[in-house]
Amino acid sequence: MTDIRIFPNAEAVARAAANWLVETAKAAITDTGRFSIALSGGSTPKLLYALLASPDYVDQIDWSKVHLFWGDERCVPPNHPDSSYRMANETLIEHIPIPSHNVYRVQAELNPETASSHYETTLRTFFADADLPRFDVMLLGMGDDGHTASLFPGTIALVETERWVVANYVDKLGVWRITLTPPAINHARHIAFLVTGANKATRLRDVLHGERQPIVLPSQLIRPKDGKLLWLVDETAAASLD
Ligand code: 6PG
Repeated sequence: MTDIRIFPNAEAVARAAANWLVETAKAAITDTGRFSIALSGGSTPKLLYALLASPDYVDQIDWSKVHLFWGDERCVPPNHPDSSYRMANETLIEHIPIPSHNVYRVQAELNPETASSHYETTLRTFFADADLPRFDVMLLGMGDDGHTASLFPGTIALVETERWVVANYVDKLGVWRITLTPPAINHARHIAFLVTGANKATRLRDVLHGERQPIVLPSQLIRPKDGKLLWLVDETAAASLD
């Protein structure tokens, strides 16, 4: 079930996402005693993370019960300007009372294969060796080329069916990335895309309403097995939708 919600601007998207996350976290903590969320990198989620850390929201979540992961990471040290961990740390983690052992950073300073296998071990331990990880929430963005997480068009990670985490070389950028794989992402209870900006409009229409071509448009691979898929988009990104 795909739920597309359109908001006037990026700030409204962030606020809607924050409200939705507070409710989803409360429900998960009530049901299971914990809330596991995989964060995304890039620029879109910065507003959301800062909002969650603000006085309006910070006390609405029991951070001691929250477990923070990443859906992907750049292969750089944690203090590197490109690090998704660094961005989340500066906008959110440093400002919330979350126990440090509840923050599962990808050790992306290691060589890519080692980093990906270590992260998979971390996930398999947390999810008690289940067949697939069952995140309560998987936060995703979408690039203007239709990629999501670090599942870039034409890359080997798109066709991975067994592993939960892989090292993925992205020719287009000339870099290695660590990314969760489609099966691992699609087993989440809730998957939420945050997409804003006019530069995403054409691609968003192609992903949602165009022909199915997931190797070209990897965001089309995201189809939760038995979870919910939510798109939170602003009007500029939704401009080409019917
Ligand atoms: C990353 C993300 C990536 C991002 C998209 C959108 O590490 O960059 O995981 O998938 O969500 O590239 O990025 P923007 O939010 O900057 O447009």
